[in-house]
Amino acid sequence: MKIAVFSTCKYDQEFLEKYNSGHELVFFEAVLSLQNVALTQGFDALCLFVNDRADAEVFAALEENGVRLILLRCAGFNNVDLPAASEAGIKVLRVPAYSPEAVAEHAMAMVLTLNRKTHKAYNRVREGNFSLEGLIGFNLHHCKVALIGTGNIGKAFYKILKGFGCEVMAYDPYPDESLINEGLKYGTLEEAIAEAEVVSLHCPLSDDNHHMINSTTLALFKKGAMLINTSRGGLIATQDVIEALKSGQLGYLGLDVYEQESELFFQNLSEDVIQDDQISRLISFPNVLITSHQGFFTKEAMEQIATTTFANADAYESGLPLMNEVQA
Ligand code: NAI
Repeated sequence: MKIAVFSTCKYDQEFLEKYNSGHELVFFEAVLSLQNVALTQGFDALCLFVNDRADAEVFAALEENGVRLILLRCAGFNNVDLPAASEAGIKVLRVPAYSPEAVAEHAMAMVLTLNRKTHKAYNRVREGNFSLEGLIGFNLHHCKVALIGTGNIGKAFYKILKGFGCEVMAYDPYPDESLINEGLKYGTLEEAIAEAEVVSLHCPLSDDNHHMINSTTLALFKKGAMLINTSRGGLIATQDVIEALKSGQLGYLGLDVYEQESELFFQNLSEDVIQDDQISRLISFPNVLITSHQGFFTKEAMEQIATTTFANADAYESGLPLMNEVQA
């Protein structure tokens, strides 16, 4: 098949070329949008990532251009209008799990960095400042953690938390029996949040949970608690979180995702004036750590993404069952 790969960075090209199972790949650095959908003419399939926008208007144009297949090289599909895809007769396949441990480990890296301030210690020592002033942290042993979402990543994070001796309460509309048998307690969202010193989000973004962390839910947090979001930016009402940081209600914030990330992430904007005032405000807090959607970014996960993407393409081409199809 002739496949147009959007939102390509050098590392995407490297892994996709290495594991290509015989398709013709054309790489575009651009993020797919209505403005550049004309580029898709003559392609059988598109390979998309988290910030490519495939909405109803884009699908109408894709149908006209003869595109038959979307290969998402990610798990989340909130950026794809699935009813519009089905109306256009375009199949959508994804990579349902690519090293959930990679994201879970990154979530723990964020907890440890915010807590023990290793990023500040690193810089201080390099400048000959060996003072411990302001670097005090807290033990994770016996620390209460709210785990919001216990799917593949939440499960992997639970294992890590158990290793650290944390006391975990989870919230998930579909509790996992195997985790209950391992001793995990489930409660409501409010119950899980109320007790926690660390709240970590591991659920997909949907219409139901858009801005689930807002001024109302933040008021339920234990004062000074830590919030970690490695899932999707839209789970958090950013302005409410900024207010909670200013008042001290929120003590720490770790973000690997951001609601307006498509304008910023995966690009080098170091010579530009950032126009997004909310991210600029967030960056200015000493107790906020932001990474640009790198939770998945390990060698193992990139290999898994590439091999599953081509397995999906091959299954479609050969008329085999589409195990990783997402439907409206
Ligand atoms: P999954 O589908 O295995 O699990 C999601 C879990 O969330 C399910 O158990 C589901 O019942 C639960 N859930 C759904 N709505 C909920 C709600 N309102 N409150 C609490 N729980 C809810 O998904 P997986 O693989 O664990 O991934 C989770 C999310 O992580 C993805 O949807 C994606 O947004 C994000 N992600 C981030 C990456 C990164 O690089 N930062 C990489 C991969 C995924």
